[in-house]
Amino acid sequence: MNSSSTSEALPVVSGSATTLDPFSIVIFGASGDLTARKLIPALYHLCKDGQMPADFRIVGFARREKTDESWRQELRADLAKFSRTKPVDDKVWSVFSKNIFYCVGDMTDAAAYQRLEQKLSGFQKPALRENLLFYLATQPSQFGVVAEQLHLAKLLQKGTNNVGMGRIIVEKPFGHDLASAETLNQELTRFANEQQVFRIDHYLGKETVQNILMFRFSNSIFEQLWNRNSVDHVQLTVSEKLGVGDRGGYYEEAGAIRDMVQNHMLQVLSLIAMEPPVSLEAESVRNEKVKLLKSIRALSPADVARQVVRGQYFAGSVDGQVRPGYRQEPKVNLNSNVETFVALKLFIDNWRWSGVPFYLRTGKNLPMSASEVRIQFRPTPNVLFAAQCGNQLDANGLTLRLQPNEGISLHFNGKVPGMSLGVRPVRMHFSYDAEFGAYTPEAYERLLLEAISGDATLFIRRDEVETAWQIVDSIRSAWDGKPLTNREFYAAGTWGPIAAEDLLAQSGHEWHEPHLINP
Ligand code: BG6
Repeated sequence: MNSSSTSEALPVVSGSATTLDPFSIVIFGASGDLTARKLIPALYHLCKDGQMPADFRIVGFARREKTDESWRQELRADLAKFSRTKPVDDKVWSVFSKNIFYCVGDMTDAAAYQRLEQKLSGFQKPALRENLLFYLATQPSQFGVVAEQLHLAKLLQKGTNNVGMGRIIVEKPFGHDLASAETLNQELTRFANEQQVFRIDHYLGKETVQNILMFRFSNSIFEQLWNRNSVDHVQLTVSEKLGVGDRGGYYEEAGAIRDMVQNHMLQVLSLIAMEPPVSLEAESVRNEKVKLLKSIRALSPADVARQVVRGQYFAGSVDGQVRPGYRQEPKVNLNSNVETFVALKLFIDNWRWSGVPFYLRTGKNLPMSASEVRIQFRPTPNVLFAAQCGNQLDANGLTLRLQPNEGISLHFNGKVPGMSLGVRPVRMHFSYDAEFGAYTPEAYERLLLEAISGDATLFIRRDEVETAWQIVDSIRSAWDGKPLTNREFYAAGTWGPIAAEDLLAQSGHEWHEPHLINP
């Protein structure tokens, strides 16, 4: 597949672009990192790319004393650091920044919400006062009080027939177990319908993750093979070169399973394995994802011991750089048993996937940063090429590289040119970069745009989040009171504990290492 020459004359089939109504977005926790690093750069780029409606307002809500003007100046300096396109376009900024406002206040103080309400009422167009989004970039423990105060200030209302006023966007972590997630869900839905709640998982904003559905359901040749008859097993790797660094305080409460598996990895898994939805409507897609998550076989404590490997890094080196052990990172307990690596083998008990192992692994301080899904097809009968290859003949594989070097590769065997009958693996490769150029919008741009337009497809529904917690809780409870053993440690810069290799070896499988162009 020569990806640079295929598409020039081909039509692009696309959904109709919607024209957005004017809106106002209020960001709670506006002085935090997320606002400066992600939200403002994303909104700025939407404006730069002509995706915003002609009228919009951004209102920051936080405790620190600031004026509209001083906040704009701060954001301008941050944008210079965090914008994905540089330098910042001053013409765009000058138009964009006129729409930014600041409201000082404490999230628990009713008077602050009155000031917010007055600020919003000052906006001329009715849509700017009525079409409201509330982005809760706050601690989850504050979700409930913000929703209640917004409701008391008449800014957020739960309507009948699932039509309500105002949308709430929330960030992960969405609870730390099933019980806390249920509590958060109850608090949020006291004053808003489920349809008004947009739970973010930034992986769903990634182009390559969205492409999973397009790839599976717009191509006939792959979907025919996408089942237990052809697939031997599936691997999902999300590896990170970085250690925990200065996030020790948060990570001590999370660990790899809550930080990555409960959300990003189970989301990717559900897209890879779900049944075709009846339409691309949000509820149809999310119904299928939930169905898939519910089909994951429950893990008993004995299954966890057999099928889940956890690990924690000790000092080592990544790319020749010395890395401290996890227990030596700031704000980490010297005897911490928190996992920085996890590998698991899951089964999906449905008609399509019965008996096919799904292997997931993720970790910090691994040798490379790469996320990919590998569909490993069944091997051919080892008859014809046994003399040349012994047992070495590679089975076909399909790799969906989510990041970096985004693309898809099909691995198959080919004859080595020459007089002998040598056979070796070769690949056909599609690269996003070669095909579409380096257009890489940030996940938050897409997600904010979807939330503004009211399309919930890329957001996590209540039952999705709760089902994912059920899976994770069964693993965590099996670890309770069991300190890490020696075989559960790995040196920074390696692929996790040896047990992660053994997990696959038990079934005659091995992990595929992502091959990066510039690791
Ligand atoms: C976040 C986790 O949700 O995702 C981080 O909290 C992790 O620990 C990050 O590093 C990974 O995201 P990405 O987009 O860099 O793969």
